Amino acid sequence: MHMKPNMKKGTVLIVSFLIMIVLALGGIHFVLEHFTYRNVDADLTQSTSTKDYQIKQAKSKYPGIDILSIVQENENYIIHKQTPEFKSNQLNDLVDNFFDKPLSEFREAMAEAEPVDDPVVMPSFHAWFDIYPFAENLYAIVLNIEQNYGAANPERLTQPYMIDIEQESLLHTEDYFDSDQLEAFKEMVWNKLNADEALAPYLFQDEYELYLADVNLAKLGYFTNEGLEIIFNPYTIAAGAAGTPTVSLAYDEIIDFLTEEGIEEIAQSNPDLHLTELREAKEPKPVPENMPSVITHNPDAGKKVALTFDDGPHATNTPAILDVLDEYDAKATFFMLGKSAQFYPELVNQVAMAGHEIGNHTMTHRQLTTLDEWSIQQEISQVDDVIEQAVGYQPNLMRPPYGAHDEYVDRIVNKPMVLWSIDTRDWQSHDPNAVLNIVTQNIHDGAIILMHDIHGETVEATRLVLDYLASEGYEFVTVSELFV
Ligand code: NI
Repeated sequence: MHMKPNMKKGTVLIVSFLIMIVLALGGIHFVLEHFTYRNVDADLTQSTSTKDYQIKQAKSKYPGIDILSIVQENENYIIHKQTPEFKSNQLNDLVDNFFDKPLSEFREAMAEAEPVDDPVVMPSFHAWFDIYPFAENLYAIVLNIEQNYGAANPERLTQPYMIDIEQESLLHTEDYFDSDQLEAFKEMVWNKLNADEALAPYLFQDEYELYLADVNLAKLGYFTNEGLEIIFNPYTIAAGAAGTPTVSLAYDEIIDFLTEEGIEEIAQSNPDLHLTELREAKEPKPVPENMPSVITHNPDAGKKVALTFDDGPHATNTPAILDVLDEYDAKATFFMLGKSAQFYPELVNQVAMAGHEIGNHTMTHRQLTTLDEWSIQQEISQVDDVIEQAVGYQPNLMRPPYGAHDEYVDRIVNKPMVLWSIDTRDWQSHDPNAVLNIVTQNIHDGAIILMHDIHGETVEATRLVLDYLASEGYEFVTVSELFV
């Protein structure tokens, strides 16, 4: 007897379940039947295909951008098209202009083609897009088409756009670039492409030149939070095996090629990139007017100290020191050896881009007081050139190896000679605590502290020194900033 209520309950559950299925099917049917789209496709609606539908997915995680999918699959070919849909007709027209012609050409080709009984690969038309949020209301959108005519290699077409969905406008990447710098920009991108070992064997320089005689290189790019991405279509600059060659450029690599207004605009729409600071780091700083020709410290600097690091850059210790300096928001000065700087130009640039000062420490670390005029000039000018190639300007300051200089050397070098007031002897002790002890016992306002970024222990020593001096209220500046 007590079974009956349970059976009743079971029946109710089954009936409810059936009703839910019917409602769900009805819902899907309603969506398919009643939603109309801007892009109603005559071929699609009259098609006798085995599978075709359009679906619009609204409310994506990118506000103001929906996805419109069109799928058509029959015994002869496949069309799968996922395109962005904006609130603005102008932007939608842009998308249609890109996709419509290739799609209708594909359809024409399919209408004329003989049906293949057992195709190895179904002819297909695939369209999709990639989306990269750049700033509020600003997106990079990359439109892609891949067409496959069965036996032949697929044809690929890719075009990036920068889109402002609030202004309903297209930003032209090329407008941000200085047209006078375009040749230099092309050369830089070519070198960057060739630095990719997987890509380099497939590149053709003459085709690169020929292609970019007609196409503005910057038009192939879009901005991201890291820099500029450039996409080349297949067969434009490389053999087909290279696919779609792409190159990623950081902002510090492209900033020299942008216009002032371009930098301002990008910086305004995306302040997180710190582009104006980056431009400042790229600019040569004049020697402060009241800087003496020989310097050991500046007693008038107030509670400021200048940490200096000699004999680098070093492949691992210099970046580790940069990280520690960054933690304490400290700026420092790196007196680089030309022979090492030659080996690590990107590291030299990284030091400058982080806002530190770079000084000249000669090419080979010889005692300048033992050299003739010509050799002294070589020791200095070669480093100046190496640094200029890496960061775009020559160093102002000089630190003579071993502090060895005299009036003869000073006259030939003709840069402020930067010595020091606190020698940590880090190269001798290799002991971070010993370095800290020397600093705590000798610290004074406007001190110039000598360390060496080639030694591993100096990374920890730098941390201890920064921690102590920060707790004493010191500000960490470059040598030049001691005199501003
Ligand atoms: Ni040295």
